[in-house]
Amino acid sequence: MPPCRPCVPRASQSLPAPLRNAPWLRRLGLSVLFTAALSVLAASTDGVVTHPVPNPLLRADGSPIATAAEWSGQQRDALLSRFEREIYGRTPTTAVPMTADVREDVVLEGGALRRKQVRLTFRSEEGIATAELLILAPGRSTGPVPIFLGLNSGGNWTISQDPGIAAPAGHKRGRHERRWPVDFIVQQGYAVATLCCDDFFPDKNIESYPQSMQRLFPADQRGPGADQWGAIATWAWGLSRALDYLASDPLLDSARVAVIGHSRLGKAALWAGARDARFALVIANNSGCGGAALSKRIAGETVRDINSRFPHWFCGNFRAYNDREAKLPVDQHQLIALIAPRAIAVGSASDDAWADPLGERMALELAQPVFALFGIPSLDAPHPGDRQRLHYHLRPGEHDILLPDWQAYVRFADRVYGRIRD
Ligand code: GCU
Repeated sequence: MPPCRPCVPRASQSLPAPLRNAPWLRRLGLSVLFTAALSVLAASTDGVVTHPVPNPLLRADGSPIATAAEWSGQQRDALLSRFEREIYGRTPTTAVPMTADVREDVVLEGGALRRKQVRLTFRSEEGIATAELLILAPGRSTGPVPIFLGLNSGGNWTISQDPGIAAPAGHKRGRHERRWPVDFIVQQGYAVATLCCDDFFPDKNIESYPQSMQRLFPADQRGPGADQWGAIATWAWGLSRALDYLASDPLLDSARVAVIGHSRLGKAALWAGARDARFALVIANNSGCGGAALSKRIAGETVRDINSRFPHWFCGNFRAYNDREAKLPVDQHQLIALIAPRAIAVGSASDDAWADPLGERMALELAQPVFALFGIPSLDAPHPGDRQRLHYHLRPGEHDILLPDWQAYVRFADRVYGRIRD
């Protein structure tokens, strides 16, 4: 995997101290930015340049969208195609047949935990490839359980010390354990389902295309190319294939699947959730540039930064916007809007200037008018009731996904699924 984050953030990327505080962001910063960003140049309270962003309720020809039906029809499809063409690349519609082999299904810990390990095999005329799916679920559930489905970045054995999780010899277990508080999630009545992103597209560099699952597709449907899919779109495709399996498993409730990801995998979760309406809830944790953060706000990681260091993540066309964010025909608030009327949670961390927490929050706010078409209350609605579908939090601390983030996501999922009410 390429190196993670530059060690020393540039001074201009740090959030000024007062802006690290969420109520400040809400009360002072964002209401101003929200109206300003839809018109001309938006000057944010932290002095960062934000180019004007497209109004999500205007069609490309400038005509307004007034109803949910107008949004869900042509406008949604047109926008999705624009994101494919300019940023993530086109995902082929060719189906690759998949089979699932349940290699293990055991109940452990005196009935508290059920562990399933499933090998997904993909076969096409071009070749064969596998992905290993790990499911950890409550052992004593009486009905189908809701799921958090997310990719991991080191192998399934990195999420836990559990010696029963299949691992190649000599691999260190539990390296990312802090990011996957499985006991907590399972105790709350949810299953965790995870696969390694490298099974779908090795997260190395531009040379990795031939080792990715793209090799199962006809040659003209593989990247790299101007509008061919990159690693993020391939990971998102993998998440949808995992959902295909989950939907066939009676243990699990495929109508209540949250697709979740941290950082680069948060970008993949967002793109998966935007494309595949079967995901009831989409969670982008510290997803930053190419994820929930506005690209037209020039803060933290820029389009040039990300294209230079991770040229395999996006399609070739995205590079045309290096240092030219103002020219981008879309921005990430519209990606979030593609999830409406389903639920979306964006999580930021106060010291994660590289991911631009304020830009993440702004994108969510700027998507609200689309959710409003469906009667979904705004983030700040005092009594959102059972229609709450938007969540944002700013966790104090660094770039990571930790127990407090998961606690917030589980609580939000509980609300979305009507498991708790005000
Ligand atoms: C780098 C990259 C980010 C990404 C992050 C991660 O910092 O620049 O865009 O989100 O790695 O995945 O941890």
